[in-house]
Amino acid sequence: MQVTIDGPAGVGKTSVGKKVADRFSLLFIQSGQLYRALAYGKLNQMDYSSLALNPEGDSNLELTIGGEEVTKKLTSEEIAEEASKLAKKKEIRALVNDRISRIARDQDVLVEGRDIGTEVLPDAEVKIFLTASAKERAKRRKKQLQIDRPLKDIENGIKKRDERDQNREISPLRPADDAVILNTNSLDESKVVERVASLIGDYLKD
Ligand code: DC
Repeated sequence: MQVTIDGPAGVGKTSVGKKVADRFSLLFIQSGQLYRALAYGKLNQMDYSSLALNPEGDSNLELTIGGEEVTKKLTSEEIAEEASKLAKKKEIRALVNDRISRIARDQDVLVEGRDIGTEVLPDAEVKIFLTASAKERAKRRKKQLQIDRPLKDIENGIKKRDERDQNREISPLRPADDAVILNTNSLDESKVVERVASLIGDYLKD
């Protein structure tokens, strides 16, 4: 089974995706992490093609590049910035998409990202697209990461990323025609998890 969750930065794809994946024993793949791993590879002069995804059991994924386990080394701003640049390149997107679709052929997966339902797994059985206003996402981010900056600043940063994600030439952020769009402005995380879980439950019943 393939489930996709796409949406803009800070909308809650990772926290919702992880919980839903655990509940249905799906392998959880954060596609942004692959771009980040390649950024790590670039900064350390490693060969991109050595990027490997090693599922550990049913739900965990270990990422290696150049044989080095990097899963926990990908959070810095430097990596995020480099990942964002790499994500504009056609050959980089092709590499990431290839790695994800290979795994999704053999295993039940939930993949989150920006273009998973549109480009990477267009035949996925359940596709979700999460949205929330830039202001709401800024509030969540400030609270979650305890960022000591004015809300307006964080909101402006988010708007800039939206603009870049939605308007890039290759694989822009947009819902697939057959995605269910969930506006999460007034839904807390547990409600979003329940809505997504019930969509998967409905599919499994049929
Ligand atoms: O979700 P994230 O911040 O970890 O993503 C890192 C970068 O990768 C970000 O600049 C957006 C990009 N990305 C993308 O272009 N397509 C995806 N499917 C996932 C992430």
